[in-house]
Amino acid sequence: MAGFEMLMLSTPRLLLRPLAEGDEAALMAIFSDPAVTRYWSSPPWTGIESAQAMIARDRAAMPAGDYLRLALERHADRTLIGTCTLFAFQAQCRRAELGYVLGSAYWGGGYMHEALLALLEHGFGTLALNRVEADIDPRNIASARSLQRLGFAQEGYLRERWIVGGEVSDTALYGLLQRDWRARTPGQVAVPAAVAAAH
Ligand SMILES: CC(C)(COP(=O)(O)OP(=O)(O)OC[C@H]1O[C@@H](n2cnc3c(N)ncnc32)[C@H](O)[C@@H]1OP(=O)(O)O)[C@@H](O)C(=O)NCCC(=O)NCCS
Repeated sequence: MAGFEMLMLSTPRLLLRPLAEGDEAALMAIFSDPAVTRYWSSPPWTGIESAQAMIARDRAAMPAGDYLRLALERHADRTLIGTCTLFAFQAQCRRAELGYVLGSAYWGGGYMHEALLALLEHGFGTLALNRVEADIDPRNIASARSLQRLGFAQEGYLRERWIVGGEVSDTALYGLLQRDWRARTPGQVAVPAAVAAAH
């Protein structure tokens, strides 16, 4: 199966597309903001080299299908406002993890919900995933609400799973099954599991 480097998904307001050279400043604006990284798995970025490294990592990982990260680019002004990612693919179990981030200037506009509807449809449809998981900080109310709105259920609570910048935090583990997704979005037919086997 081909990798993800050419993948683009379109939603009413957004183009979801791979990161590219030229995205450094927009990524830096998002990931250097302590409000954005408050519950993130790493501290705020302090230099543009972090953005360059992310783009370089994706350039290698996306063709290999190691993970699928797409930028959220607004159709209206071509501004990069965030990213969403399916990662930790487990081919045998047809499972992956979900991650997402939006610049704080764009919170409250429904953009991430719109993007995740498209990414999850791609995951459960084209990639034939059976299960998507999300590991969030239980204090991250906006993230929890975003997941619940998509149909995710909290399935677990793992104590002191993270230490970021010296701060110890717990995990709330959420899960969404393909059949839950199909029950919410009827009419879509999943492709055979073999299609996702490469991942
Ligand atoms: C998580 C994130 C993508 C959500 O995007 P958003 O545009 O802020 O989402 P919304 O404004 O639609 O908020 C989602 C829900 O949380 C609620 N909410 C947001 N902030 C809240 C707060 N501080 N307290 C209580 N509820 C809150 C909203 O009212 C909304 O509820 P609803 O679905 O019932 O209407 C965004 O906040 C973000 O990028 N955060 C930083 C990165 C991050 O934490 N990523 C997730 C890591 S697992």
